Amino acid sequence: MTMPTKDTLPDTLPAIRRLTGEDARAAIPALSAILIDCIADGASVGFLQSFGDKDAATYWAGVADAVTSLHTVLLVAKCDGEILGTVQLGIGLPPNQPHRADLKKLLVHRRGRRRGLARLLMTAAEDEALALGRHLLVLDTATGSPAEAIYARLGWTRAGVIPDYALFPDGSFCGSTFFYKPLAASRTPLAAPPLAARPLV
Ligand SMILES: CC(C)(COP(=O)(O)OP(=O)(O)OC[C@H]1O[C@@H](n2cnc3c(N)ncnc32)[C@H](O)[C@@H]1OP(=O)(O)O)[C@@H](O)C(=O)NCCC(=O)NCCS
Repeated sequence: MTMPTKDTLPDTLPAIRRLTGEDARAAIPALSAILIDCIADGASVGFLQSFGDKDAATYWAGVADAVTSLHTVLLVAKCDGEILGTVQLGIGLPPNQPHRADLKKLLVHRRGRRRGLARLLMTAAEDEALALGRHLLVLDTATGSPAEAIYARLGWTRAGVIPDYALFPDGSFCGSTFFYKPLAASRTPLAAPPLAARPLV
């Protein structure tokens, strides 16, 4: 029996894709819809309730530029051909941190939740990080949020909490919990292959 590959999976199964800058620009409407939905749901992801379509388009255009300049890796989760989830790896870090990446903006549209998309995105982000020689991941999330529980389930270590670090979309203060995840036993900084040289998944 031939096993299905990422390219032949039926559309009903979620598929994780790494986007080019051009792909990201084409996906701005879908990515904006996800971000706006998460903010409307009260998630503390960098923006306030007043955040609208235009702001979202501007934000994602900046992400697309960061993908093009190889400062960001952008992954999306597609269900039935529709983008319903996304996550980013920030890799444009100072020269003394070539071995790590910042995991950012894990976002799943409410229509796509509890189907394992976040877990798939996080696993794929770890694979991407390792392929780039980044063996330490760092993130922060709103203290007490559902996401905080998910990271612990996915093997991340809680480093600590900073009270009143950010605001919820409604303007109230929210603490941030910082997590890290070492991906490999090696502490030797690796020579990372250039992102552009690797094939898209
Ligand atoms: C957090 C979020 C990304 C989870 O997405 P999701 O696709 O629904 O998550 P998954 O279905 O992959 O679930 C992953 C794990 O978390 C658990 N989980 C998911 N949502 C949960 C919730 N609300 N409460 C408790 N556990 C939850 C699942 O049971 C699963 O655990 P398991 O695989 O061990 O059974 C999504 O709720 C979201 O986008 N929230 C708003 C944005 C946000 O806060 N992002 C984090 C920014 S740091």
